[in-house]
Amino acid sequence: MSGNNESRLILALDVYERERALKIAEQTAEYLWAIKVNWPLIIGSGLGIVTELKDATGLPIIADLKLADIPNTNRLIASRVFEAGADYIIAHGFVGSDSVRAVMELGKTIIVVEMSHPGAKEFIQPATDKLVELANRLEPFGVIAPATRPERVAYIRSRLNSEVKILTPGVGAQGGKAGEVLKAGADYIIVGRSIYASENPRESARRLYEETMEV
Ligand code: XMP
Repeated sequence: MSGNNESRLILALDVYERERALKIAEQTAEYLWAIKVNWPLIIGSGLGIVTELKDATGLPIIADLKLADIPNTNRLIASRVFEAGADYIIAHGFVGSDSVRAVMELGKTIIVVEMSHPGAKEFIQPATDKLVELANRLEPFGVIAPATRPERVAYIRSRLNSEVKILTPGVGAQGGKAGEVLKAGADYIIVGRSIYASENPRESARRLYEETMEV
């Protein structure tokens, strides 16, 4: 099974079980650009799931660890995760450029500049301008911005170097709309529950894929 290079859809595969994860990944791979793996799946199935998903689908794997530690610890974690086959790691920027650089030295990195949940307004949103400046300085592969606030995605796009991609979680279960956020300047949408918790994950992925292709 191979993925779709033109797709702008990333599956957030937040299930615990290995078998279920592999089944959903194989059912949906045709419509995906990449699969995002977060702590629930790593805790439930072990880090080896990264390698298995890669072998089963051929898709890029994004490890959403939201690394936020001192450089040495970020490096210790990231080295094993890249070795397992992750193509990208998501790291927090608020811990400072040295911590982010420690990850970037080992592989492609995505920096969180604003989160999608309501609480993001308390601490992260006031720091977004500085986090975007950090991204402009370090030039990671991409940044994470909230699909729940397309106006913020447009704002971040206007301040971010054009080569840095914007990946947006929050479509579907959290209320974001694929078309709106892509029009606002996102390069990719990240979707979890609306696909993996639906009755027919393949059909849900296909519908979202079609929606992204219309933009
Ligand atoms: P749902 O089920 O809401 O899953 O479609 C979304 C996925 O994305 C993660 N997520 C975020 N990751 N910044 C991030 O780095 C965010 O603002 C953010 N919001 C959601 C979430 O953990 C889940 O894997």
